Amino acid sequence: MRATIADIATFDGQQVTLHGWLHNRRSSGKLHFLIIRDGSGFIQAVMSKATVGDDAFTRAAHLGQETSLSVTGAVRADERARGGYEIDVASLEVHGDSQDYPITPKEHGVDFLMDRRHLWLRTERQTAIMRVRHEVIDAVRDFFNGRGFILCDTPIFTPAACEGTSTLFPVQYFEDTTAFLTQSGQLYGEANAMALGKVYGFGPTFRAEKSKTRRHLTEFWMVEPEMAYADLGDVISLAEGLITSIVARVLDKRRTELQILERDTTKLEAVTAPFPRITYDDAATILREKGLPFAYGTDFGGTDETVLSEHFDRPVAITHYPTTIKAFYMKPDPQQPDKALCVDVLAPEGYGEIIGGGQRVDDLDLLLRRIREHGLPQEAFEWYLDLRRYGTVPHGGFGMGIERCVSWICKLEHVRETIPYPRMLYRLYP
Ligand code: 4AD
Ligand code: MG
Repeated sequence: MRATIADIATFDGQQVTLHGWLHNRRSSGKLHFLIIRDGSGFIQAVMSKATVGDDAFTRAAHLGQETSLSVTGAVRADERARGGYEIDVASLEVHGDSQDYPITPKEHGVDFLMDRRHLWLRTERQTAIMRVRHEVIDAVRDFFNGRGFILCDTPIFTPAACEGTSTLFPVQYFEDTTAFLTQSGQLYGEANAMALGKVYGFGPTFRAEKSKTRRHLTEFWMVEPEMAYADLGDVISLAEGLITSIVARVLDKRRTELQILERDTTKLEAVTAPFPRITYDDAATILREKGLPFAYGTDFGGTDETVLSEHFDRPVAITHYPTTIKAFYMKPDPQQPDKALCVDVLAPEGYGEIIGGGQRVDDLDLLLRRIREHGLPQEAFEWYLDLRRYGTVPHGGFGMGIERCVSWICKLEHVRETIPYPRMLYRLYP
């Protein structure tokens, strides 16, 4: 009977066949201990000379790491085994030989591993991260689908900038015009919200950032909810609900993976609503009190974000940044027009920003002025201006970078391990 390692417990005492790869092999006299992986997990298969005979036993002594094989044998519960079960091998069939596998159990440098990312993905640690990523994405979808949001995706080729012109990737293809890879689907999300009320988009986004930090990717995945008839408070509540539900879901379903990653789960268990809400001014005061050389009126740098996010035991929502340092579409606070009705959510433990969003300018004249002030081409935004011409309403939303979120939940040093094939300034292969 065909089985997978993930549900091996349901086959206790039965004879099964596992299709997988040889992860590791250890031998002692008349026994081979084969660690098999099948994509769903790892298990030890014990092969004894007495059972399989001399020939099969000798052949198995030459199996290289990552040989693909099928193992047939009885499932036996064993308290000492990881996962609680072992297989007593009755027969073994090799599909594809593997000799001199480049990634051995010894330590390798990150560049060496990144050059072999297609193979590195097979390790226990990397598969644990990919499973957490899967769970985060699944939790995101469930969260929005369960709250009446409609998935309405946005284009990747776009005619204009959303998040500033300095990080655009030009694409030459379309007649008489340069297209750009999208930095964010938000502007289209706003149009979609005017059609459907509550929407979200989820897809790849691109930033031609020349920064080489542990938080930046050139290509990353962003989920972007947008709501009609919503204000900044609604946006913050939604962000809070999303993050707490993702964390609860990973704690519930991915304990094993968090354990493999040696993640201190008490830190994640503390992530409950309400999150502290502070203003940009409050944050500036915290930084000053901690003696950081922060210049009021500028955006927080990497170190500032790290310090602020270490200051709280759960995510913190920072609102009311100066309008001058925020995107053209941010609505100024009517009470204090030099501040924007925006929010950044910083993850704790030094991870920094994982969510950025806020309320959008809903007034036609103001939006026209902002587009001019930012030196943006009005023609490219006519459709976006139409949303203010034909039945404008207060609205808002945010974007959450999946990789930043996964990096924090797994407590990784660098965002590059959270995506199957990271794209960065110096990384395009494989
Ligand atoms: O703060 P950002 O730039 O906001 C926007 O793009 C808005 N238009 C979103 C919206 O309101 N719909 O990006 C949003 C999030 C960040 O908080 C971060 O999690 C992630 O996207 N992000 C990146 N992740 C990895 N690498 C990068 N270079 C990133 N830039 C942004
Ligand atoms: Mg941001």
